[in-house]
Amino acid sequence: MENNLKTLKNTAEKGIKQAKNLKDLDGVFRLYLGRKGELTGILRSLKDMPSKERSAFGKEANEVRQVLQEAFDSRQKELGWSNETQEGSIDVTAPGQKIQAGHLHPITQTRRKVEEIFGSMGFVVADGPEVEDEWHNFDALNIPAGHPARDLWDTFWLKAEINKKPLLLRTHTSPVQIRYMQEHKPPIRIIAPGRTFRYEATDAGHEINFYQVEGLMIDENISVANFKAVIQEFFKRFFEKDVTIRLRPSYFPFTEPSFEVDISCVLCEGKGCSSCEHTGWFEMLGAGMVHPKVLKAVGYNPKNLRGFAFGMGMDRLAMMKYKIPDVRMFFASDLKFLKQF
Ligand code: DAH
Repeated sequence: MENNLKTLKNTAEKGIKQAKNLKDLDGVFRLYLGRKGELTGILRSLKDMPSKERSAFGKEANEVRQVLQEAFDSRQKELGWSNETQEGSIDVTAPGQKIQAGHLHPITQTRRKVEEIFGSMGFVVADGPEVEDEWHNFDALNIPAGHPARDLWDTFWLKAEINKKPLLLRTHTSPVQIRYMQEHKPPIRIIAPGRTFRYEATDAGHEINFYQVEGLMIDENISVANFKAVIQEFFKRFFEKDVTIRLRPSYFPFTEPSFEVDISCVLCEGKGCSSCEHTGWFEMLGAGMVHPKVLKAVGYNPKNLRGFAFGMGMDRLAMMKYKIPDVRMFFASDLKFLKQF
């Protein structure tokens, strides 16, 4: 019996040494150490042996198994075995590789929150194209060609045209008001979040592309009071605390009267800081009562209808909410920044 073991050990060792590749080696392994291997068989038969012989023989057989296993392991390494080289074989005991999961960009998180809050107040989300025609972006909003108000919007004009009408990258989300009214009858209650573009120098507060959310509510008896109530409620829910707002008179060609809405600066609690230019107030949106000429442009009768509209900077909302000092960070694709939200 013991001689058998020795012979087995010698032939197995020889086989391991002579194996020229992993496939050969695997064959040798099966022959001796595999489930149906010779040595495995011997070890299994130990239990039927008289106990006197069993302990001495068992010890030796186990030693042979260990020696062969080690020889096998080192030959395996010599032949270049690794998890990767074992095509099609999976080491189920190896620790898994963590899959990198991303998350929503802070602007997307902001947009979703805005949609949720306005949605709960009955506003429907409307959409429009980023490449606009001149009529929707300007003329229909009471900004005819040659009007000095056009200078308020620094525009990227495209070389392409549609029906001889010039195209541009929309300078604001206001054209969505026009598109929606052309297709729907009042009463109307929409918001239109989206990307907008301006041909201007960038700094901490300005980017050539940025995000706005437009709002429009049209019915028979809408007043500035309705606007104030809606926007006040929005800010309270967006910032999850009471936020003081103020309306300043302003000018937009598509509203009359027009105003700008500031909130008390969330970054410094209204005390004054560099983000709010030390005024304690942060400009958030432009707004006003929809101009009768706009209602006419879409075929409505301005006599019976009133409405308010607003355009709010969505990046500015996100900056205030997450205390981000520079709008350019949103577009820098810097993971160290993005992972914080
Ligand atoms: N479109 C304007 C801008 O980008 C913002 C704006 C002002 C939108 C007044 C409105 C509004 O709907 O009523 O500067």
